[in-house]
Amino acid sequence: MTMVTNPTTPVRAARWVRLCAFEQLSVERGRAALVGDTQIALFLLADGTVRAVSNYDPYSGAHVLSRGIVGTAAFAGGAVIPTITSPLHKQSWDLRTGTVVETHGHDERHITSFAVAVDDGQVFVKWEEA
Ligand code: FES
Repeated sequence: MTMVTNPTTPVRAARWVRLCAFEQLSVERGRAALVGDTQIALFLLADGTVRAVSNYDPYSGAHVLSRGIVGTAAFAGGAVIPTITSPLHKQSWDLRTGTVVETHGHDERHITSFAVAVDDGQVFVKWEEA
């Protein structure tokens, strides 16, 4: 894992927190992990990328996104992005950024995304202290 530190900026301290072993992840099956009081939903994509977002669905108010549906969204111009769709009301977010991509007529509610690193078979998220 490459740790990148920027000596000029950090407003908040960030550290890498180990969540699980890479081998505990299954392709396109979410896993939930707890860091402090925060639930994180982890996903191993078909291309081997691991993504982490908040497990909290801001539309239903439930911690369910780790049980959501992994997919993709295609945009005019050819961009295809990995998405997670809530198992409850079917809103979708960009798994890379947490930006909502399907609101089903509601206001835009984004979710937190976390940087992920895989090192020596272990999965870490970049965690910023509040
Ligand atoms: S958020 Fe559930 S129906 Fe709109």
